[in-house]
Amino acid sequence: MPKGLLGIEDLDRTEIEAILQRAGEFQALQRGEFRRLDTLKGKLIVNLFFEPSTRTRTSFEIAAKRLGADTITLTAAGSSVVKGESLVDTLNTLGAMHPSAIVMRHKASGAPHFLARHLNIPIINAGDGTHEHPTQALLDARTILDHKGRLEGLRVAIIGDIAHSRVARSNIYLLSKFGVEIILCGPAPLVPPELARIAPGVRIEYDMREAIRDVDVIMMLRVQLERQHETSFPRDEYFQFYGLRLEHMELAKPDVIVMHPGPINRGREISSEVADSQRSVILNQVENGVAVRMAVLERILGEA
Ligand code: CP
Repeated sequence: MPKGLLGIEDLDRTEIEAILQRAGEFQALQRGEFRRLDTLKGKLIVNLFFEPSTRTRTSFEIAAKRLGADTITLTAAGSSVVKGESLVDTLNTLGAMHPSAIVMRHKASGAPHFLARHLNIPIINAGDGTHEHPTQALLDARTILDHKGRLEGLRVAIIGDIAHSRVARSNIYLLSKFGVEIILCGPAPLVPPELARIAPGVRIEYDMREAIRDVDVIMMLRVQLERQHETSFPRDEYFQFYGLRLEHMELAKPDVIVMHPGPINRGREISSEVADSQRSVILNQVENGVAVRMAVLERILGEA
């Protein structure tokens, strides 16, 4: 199987460190007037998004272009999927055009893994169901490193709809490889106890004020209504118990940073006062998305 990126679970610490370091080099390039590189000149990258996306889709496209690759982006709504074409037939069709790599987002957990078994092309997982979102965890780690200078020994609270979050899973896998203490917090139906057993250093706390106490990083998650089949929590009640507000900030370390993968729902999981505060690094995460995806594409498709 050609080397792609299906999840963080499969990566070892050395590979993660190499991607984060290279992303750090690309960060510096982005800030000035960017000169397009030709590292991936002649390569064709297909972005195949079966679920909506703003950040991941655009940053993969920008990253590919900045490395000199050609890109095509296909969404389910604009493809022959709406005419009834199956996933396998869609993939065979795209494979026949010989792309250098396919970046794929799909609502089904395991869809990119299926694709990777089916096609002899590197596949990059841009989010599969509730399973993994590896480049999000990498850009989150890059952002934490930028602000804290290290991962080892940090205490990170991940708060919200953990059950449906591929971002939470990928972050748990990544942060635990670096000895981070991880506290998962949310309403009991949205925090499956088995998640505390998927990696070392993870514990569960249902009281948000306790979860936040003395943490270095607060990572908020969106309530994923599109993945919930049962009646959801009333918005006001959720915000009262699990919404991050200014009053919570003094419980954490004084230099705590607040993260959110986006899109944010103001007044549901986070207040505007916190989202727009000095402690928020949400837009730094977005900025790092391009640098990290450049590093990932270069690693998979660049010459050794
Ligand atoms: N964080 C993230 O995956 O955002 P998008 O859904 O906008 O890509």
